[in-house]
Amino acid sequence: MHEYQAPSQLLANRTIVVSGAGAGIGRAAAKAYAAHGATVVLIGRTQSKLESCYDEIVAEDHPEPVIVVMDFANASEGEYMNLRDRLAETFGHIDGILVNASLLGERKPLEQTSLKSWNELMQVNVTAGFLLVKSLLVLCQRSPNDASIILTSSSVGRKGRAYWGAYAISKFATEGMMQVLADELENVSNVRVNSINPGATNTEMRRTAYPAERPSDNPSPAERMNTYLYLMGPDSIGVNGQACNAFG
Ligand SMILES: NC(=O)c1ccc[n+]([C@@H]2O[C@H](COP(=O)([O-])OP(=O)(O)OC[C@H]3O[C@@H](n4cnc5c(N)ncnc54)[C@H](OP(=O)(O)O)[C@@H]3O)[C@@H](O)[C@H]2O)c1
Repeated sequence: MHEYQAPSQLLANRTIVVSGAGAGIGRAAAKAYAAHGATVVLIGRTQSKLESCYDEIVAEDHPEPVIVVMDFANASEGEYMNLRDRLAETFGHIDGILVNASLLGERKPLEQTSLKSWNELMQVNVTAGFLLVKSLLVLCQRSPNDASIILTSSSVGRKGRAYWGAYAISKFATEGMMQVLADELENVSNVRVNSINPGATNTEMRRTAYPAERPSDNPSPAERMNTYLYLMGPDSIGVNGQACNAFG
């Protein structure tokens, strides 16, 4: 999967929603999807970052993206429903969602984790993903072909590790959400649902989590994109409920 070579027009005529598209892995995924023909819906909380991602995509002559500014820490359910209505009006359907935005939160023992930071992290890492999928699933089901939902996990969401606190627990919840959804949709829907653990990748989050590391020792987000392309495009039809890795 991580060695997959995507055809140049893999995602032509598809509309793909990417959360956390302003920076890091989400930004690289949005650009990779656009470079393979998709119209991408760039969701994030910082308008300037989304605009610079938009500018880079347009400068490469890829399909013009749509920007949606949304702060997952305090967005109401109504905002997700408005997003669904806006996308329904513009596109009629969508063909994929990459649920990617996340917070790292406090790196300390659970006993010392504040309720405030726990709640904020669960809101962004779990509840926002749930609300995004809950509101947009109907548009995926209207895809004339197949549709793909990718949830973003982590190594610490597959095996717990000391001091990774709410972040690790939120990734276990993400894996659970992926499995529940995949099982609900198996054989009754054109929508497949899988998770990706990107692995150590040179982003702001990684640099914050491992300040002693030399950032350039880790692959760039762009180098992690083969699995993201494979799972989003039709070559992965039939792959459902899998916990995948973006590395070898
Ligand atoms: N990098 C790694 O080594 C690694 C390893 C395992 C898993 N992951 C996972 O991969 C995904 C991407 O991580 P990354 O390394 O690219 O992280 P990142 O560089 O910190 O980017 C996170 C993205 O999420 C957005 N975001 C954060 N809080 C938000 C909020 N309240 N509302 C809307 N958007 C919000 C950020 O927006 P702003 O830029 O506007 O703040 C940013 O675009 C995450 O799910 C992470 O858990 C990463």
